[in-house]
Amino acid sequence: MRKPLMAGNWKMFKTPEQTTAFFEKFLPLVEKSAHCEILVCAPFVDLPAAVIAAAGSSVGVGGQNLHWSTGDGAFTGEVSGPMLKAVGCRSVIIGHSERRQFFGETDATVLQRTKAALASGLQPVVCVGEMLADREAGKTNLVLETQLRGGVFSLTPEEFTAVVIAYEPVWAIGTGKTATPEIAADAHKFIREQIRAHYGDAAASSTRILYGGSVKPDNVKSLMAQPDIDGALVGGASLDPISFASIVNF
Ligand code: 13P
Repeated sequence: MRKPLMAGNWKMFKTPEQTTAFFEKFLPLVEKSAHCEILVCAPFVDLPAAVIAAAGSSVGVGGQNLHWSTGDGAFTGEVSGPMLKAVGCRSVIIGHSERRQFFGETDATVLQRTKAALASGLQPVVCVGEMLADREAGKTNLVLETQLRGGVFSLTPEEFTAVVIAYEPVWAIGTGKTATPEIAADAHKFIREQIRAHYGDAAASSTRILYGGSVKPDNVKSLMAQPDIDGALVGGASLDPISFASIVNF
C-alpha cells in the first residue's frame, strides 16, 4: 500500500556546518527505519552539505521552493528545478503556508511550480491548509477544495501520480496546537475524496497525504494511526536529530 513519508521542513534554520552535524547524529538513529521514506528539506545553501552527508543512506534531500521556469533566466534570488536536481535533491516542498502568507504564493503559482518540479524529475510535496478564520467560519473544505483545484487538479493523471499532498492547518503550524487526530483525519479523508473525484480510485488509494502542524514525538503515533494519514511534514521537531528520529520511528 502507501509507504509512509516522514519529511522534515527546516524552514530558515541551520548552516551547512550544522547540517553536517545533524546528519552525523541522525543517520545512525534511522539506519534500520525501512518502514518509511525519510526526507529532509533544507535551505538552499545547505543542500550540498545535506546531499553529501546523506549519501549512501536512504534519507532523501529536498528543497523548500523552486522557480516555475525550468530554464535558466534573469530571476534574481530564485532557484530552478534542474538546479535542485543537479545538486542531488529528490523532492521539493511547494505552496507552504508561509510562502502563501509572506511571499505572495497563489494557487496559480503553486500549479506552475508543481509542473516545473515534475518536469525536473522532482517529487512535489504540495501543501494545502486552512487558516483559523476559515475553520471557524466552517470553510475548511471549501478552502482545501479551492487550493487543490487551483494548485494540482489540472495536472494530467500521469503527472499527478508523482505528487504528494501535505495537509497543514495554518493554525497548527509552530503553535504547539496540533490538530486532534480526528480533525486531521476528517481533512485527510476529504482530500482523498477530492482526489478520487478528479483522478479515480487508483490515484486516491495510492496518493500519500502527509499531516503537518506541531508534529512531535509524543503525538505522532496517534496521528499516524489514522487510516488516511500517510506521513508527516515536520517543522520545529525536525531540527533536532533525536526528536526527528523518534518521529520517523513512531
Ligand atoms: P511545525 O512542526 O514547527 O509546527 O511546522 C510545521 C510545518 O510548517 C511543516 O512544513
